[in-house]
Amino acid sequence: MNAALRWAVGQFHRPRGVAGNVAGWVMAHRSSNRTRNGWVVGLLDLRPGDRVLEIGYGPGLAVAGMSRLVGPSGHVDGLDHSA
Ligand SMILES: C[S@@+](CC[C@H](N)C(=O)[O-])C[C@H]1O[C@@H](n2cnc3c(N)ncnc32)[C@H](O)[C@@H]1O
Repeated sequence: MNAALRWAVGQFHRPRGVAGNVAGWVMAHRSSNRTRNGWVVGLLDLRPGDRVLEIGYGPGLAVAGMSRLVGPSGHVDGLDHSA
């Protein structure tokens, strides 16, 4: 993999700066990523009141979906090493 491609792919591993914001936008809007996140959230069988931690939540598609399922009595935390 050449250096430019490695840098671009790296923006999805640890988004930074303007390019990182673009990577975040792509993750938030790409239909395949939205579908995948929805599929994963569905597999979790979450119920109201459940507590969840997602590591590497990126733009937060799954965090939003999980929050709807666990409701106000539940709790969803996210941890991501990208600002
Ligand atoms: C490819 S993105 C996927 C984001 C999200 N899960 C989604 O499907 O839209 C990977 C995310 O995981 C985060 N990440 C990768 N390794 C991590 C680590 N060791 N600790 C915390 N966050 C991490 C990145 O910063 C990035 O936001």
